[in-house]
Amino acid sequence: MTDKGSNRTITMKDDESGKTASFPIMNGTAGVPVMDIRSLYKEMGVFTYDPGYTATGSCKSEVTFIDGDEGILLYRGYPIEQLAEKSDYMEVCYLLMFGELPTKAQYDKFVYDISHHNMVHDQINNFFRGFRRDAHPMAVMCGVVGGLAAFYHDSLDINDPRHRMVAQYRLVAKMPTIAAMAYKYTIGQPFVYPRNHMGYAENFLHMCFSTPCEEYKVDPVISKALDTIFTLHADHEQNASASTVRLAGSTGANPYACISAGIAALWGPSHGGANEQVLNMLEEIGTKDKVASMVQKAKDPDDPFRLFGFGHRVYKNFDPRATVISKAAHDVLNTLGIHDPLLEVAVELERIALEDEYFIKRRLYPNVDFYSGFILKAMGFPVSMFTALFAIGRTVGWVSQWNELIGDPEQKINRPRQLYTGSAARDYVNIGQR
Ligand code: ACO
Repeated sequence: MTDKGSNRTITMKDDESGKTASFPIMNGTAGVPVMDIRSLYKEMGVFTYDPGYTATGSCKSEVTFIDGDEGILLYRGYPIEQLAEKSDYMEVCYLLMFGELPTKAQYDKFVYDISHHNMVHDQINNFFRGFRRDAHPMAVMCGVVGGLAAFYHDSLDINDPRHRMVAQYRLVAKMPTIAAMAYKYTIGQPFVYPRNHMGYAENFLHMCFSTPCEEYKVDPVISKALDTIFTLHADHEQNASASTVRLAGSTGANPYACISAGIAALWGPSHGGANEQVLNMLEEIGTKDKVASMVQKAKDPDDPFRLFGFGHRVYKNFDPRATVISKAAHDVLNTLGIHDPLLEVAVELERIALEDEYFIKRRLYPNVDFYSGFILKAMGFPVSMFTALFAIGRTVGWVSQWNELIGDPEQKINRPRQLYTGSAARDYVNIGQR
């Protein structure tokens, strides 16, 4: 329980009726206190108006904490920098799902169990064949993950903690398999089955890049970098996709449908889809000398264009994930001896934007998506796979938050209110008289 309680209240007064009501302030273990307005409508007869939920806490959560001003990201209390350096993705998954770091025995069992859930039902192969070959992998993933509910009837009782746990393991385990199948399908190669002796990232790379024709050896530099990318993307508290998962989950929908909804929300270019758009944008810029004009375009209030990979709802100082990933991008490219001219464009774009009054005033900094694409490109992934890779890493955050939601006694169906601005009540007019 994070609410430490408080005697502090905020009192509101309605200027018109003179009615007053006090609302308690709740404190978590860290972060901004929140005002409990659950009785607002009953007491004052008004709702709150907060499009985009910029000042609304939708739940209590013990999973992840972000301090956007200080650039802090904690998974279950552990700083992301320490986890990226010392831990690995499987350990982070265990931490997010169970709340504590595993012992060696717990870790080994977890890795074993996840790897033994990584195959998909053979009938699912037929699902893929229904898609066009040029389908976007995220479209395929929305469909296939949502369809898993049709295959795993033994884990659909959301009120049974064991069913919930089995569904969580399945989703974390099968997501790389499904993403790799989506990739193989688009390039017309046969599906490659998972290998249980391989690590999580290594196995995914193998499923994507090996063929039945020749041996594919996974480069440990690449699998380590991918493992770090998954770790950095594992959770991010109440972001748009996690909130979507929670909203779907609040209706009692099955876990596969909820995660499919999360994948759909992640795909948007303002969220996870930005990593794909960053590379497209840098390719469009092409050379360092064209950076300034693109920055100018992003500043133009009459132009909807925004610099992809810049800005964040919560981080207003720096994105700690971006710091780790920008270093990893340079290291991976150096180690692999890859010279990507677009990296120079990115560095120049970052330099110009960070010195520009427009970006400084609005506190816009590179986010995690700005540099991740370079590593993924160096690994051989096409840009269309970038958001699918994000979805793999984020699945553990989604399932952990979904499980927390279902177990939360305060949980209710998520049902926001509105400020209605349409026509007032009017009488129906028969079609001949309109
Ligand atoms: N380029 C140019 N201007 C920007 C950018 C940007 N990338 N981001 C925000 N701004 C400007 C806005 O135009 C606005 O200016 P104004 O005050 O003059 O109107 C101001 O900064 C504040 O922006 P908001 O849209 O109000 O901020 P919000 O918190 O709603 O949006 C978001 C955050 C969606 C991430 C936004 O910064 C953006 O669109 N960034 C580009 C897409 C992107 O990289 N998304 C990935 C986010 S990280 C993730 O999901 C993993």
